Amino acid sequence: MPPPPLHFNAFIWPNGYHESGWRVVPDEARGVLGLPYYAGIARTAERGLLDSVFLADNIAIPEYRVEHLPQTQFDPILVLSALAGLTERIGLIGTGSTTYSAPWDLARRFATLDHLSAGRAGWNIVTTGSPLTAANFGLTEHPSHADRYARAHEFVDVVQRVWDGWEDDAVVGDKAGAWADRSKIHAPRFHGEHYDVEGILPFPRSPQGHPVLVQAGQSPAGIALAARYAELVFSGPPSLEAAVEFRRKLHAQAIAGGRSADQLKVLPALTFTLASTEAEAKDKSQRLEDLASPEFRWQNLLYVTGHDPDDFDPDVPFPQELLDGPAPTSGGERLYAAARERRIPLRELAQDLIGGASQIPFAGTPEQLADYILAWHDAGAIDGFTLMGTTLPYELETFVDHVVPILQARGRFRTGYEGATLRDHLGLNRPAGHQTGVASRA
Ligand SMILES: Cc1cc2nc3c(=O)[nH]c(=O)nc-3n(C[C@H](O)[C@H](O)[C@H](O)COP(=O)(O)O)c2cc1C
Repeated sequence: MPPPPLHFNAFIWPNGYHESGWRVVPDEARGVLGLPYYAGIARTAERGLLDSVFLADNIAIPEYRVEHLPQTQFDPILVLSALAGLTERIGLIGTGSTTYSAPWDLARRFATLDHLSAGRAGWNIVTTGSPLTAANFGLTEHPSHADRYARAHEFVDVVQRVWDGWEDDAVVGDKAGAWADRSKIHAPRFHGEHYDVEGILPFPRSPQGHPVLVQAGQSPAGIALAARYAELVFSGPPSLEAAVEFRRKLHAQAIAGGRSADQLKVLPALTFTLASTEAEAKDKSQRLEDLASPEFRWQNLLYVTGHDPDDFDPDVPFPQELLDGPAPTSGGERLYAAARERRIPLRELAQDLIGGASQIPFAGTPEQLADYILAWHDAGAIDGFTLMGTTLPYELETFVDHVVPILQARGRFRTGYEGATLRDHLGLNRPAGHQTGVASRA
């Protein structure tokens, strides 16, 4: 049997996914604030027949970041809606927080994107790790990890019910009669532990029925949420072995919950630097590292693992009293384990730890990257990768022009889009939705 097809998701980040990316690219520093930057990357991804582009969401930023990184955290759904009009086929995945959104509102926004893009929307479900977020939303406290995930389950459940409020064939458009058939409308009327959502969306069901559900939590609670709902999972494994184990565990939990493993694709985050020789790629990668600031590293490690960096002194070891309690995120668990082992100043500890989404930096030639991808695929570690070029759009262009053709020549990647929707690209079923004659789930 031929191996299943690979899938690729391009992570859009200002000037690339290395903190020094913006310092080395030849582009004007403010270019990342304009639509042409996003459109260029999305069109390149589409030229390479990739499955999707992806935008993260960070809804609170500590101020140290403005010195070290371009700050471009627009509302992802607004950017993706603009890209919908500038592209034809590429999937458009955006992040939305279950902790800091209202489910009916978020359901409406992603369903709007699905309509505007003719079925190319995906929602990366996050619970939001940064405690700084609470104060931006008028709250005095950031909910605990367990609370955030408990709410997330109910949140996703409600969102799906809202998306199913209209039957697929509810619109009749009978100019002499009704625009839509009222008997095919099913208000969610949901009353749960955390959310109360009464009414239908003010427009019909979207082309994919449900935008594709994506999840990126790595903790046991994150994996449980993904196993229940996610159709696409972004992970950040430290090794091939860990990736095999993560995917195996996720599939086992999904199957135990009555789902089919082939309806759940795993695309770990991969940071990569490409050049025509391995030595040149390693030099490029080293240059980025040489430009990196230790001040950024320790603060960023704290931020991305769910802490407020302003609460810490980098010249002493990580506070013991925190190590005695639970870590706020799975990245925090890794930090706590390292800090327990090495009681050295935080600034030093942070130099050796990777806090971001990807823990597997690759530097080499396109041929080597193609081999690397196929080795992970053959080992059952992945269904593809979330591509995080260290400089953008440059690494992505090289990937599309030089890695994709190798994978195609080896019969492992599509040579044309077969369908029109993100579900088509990923081989995911379209959810049936509310069926006439079936009692409402509410
Ligand atoms: C590829 C990737 C992308 C992510 N994007 C976001 C994001 O946009 N916003 C966010 O708050 N967290 C993001 N995360 C973090 C996770 O969704 C999750 O919040 C974090 O890992 C903490 O949850 P956990 O303890 O369950 O792992 C991302 C993680 C990965 C691997």
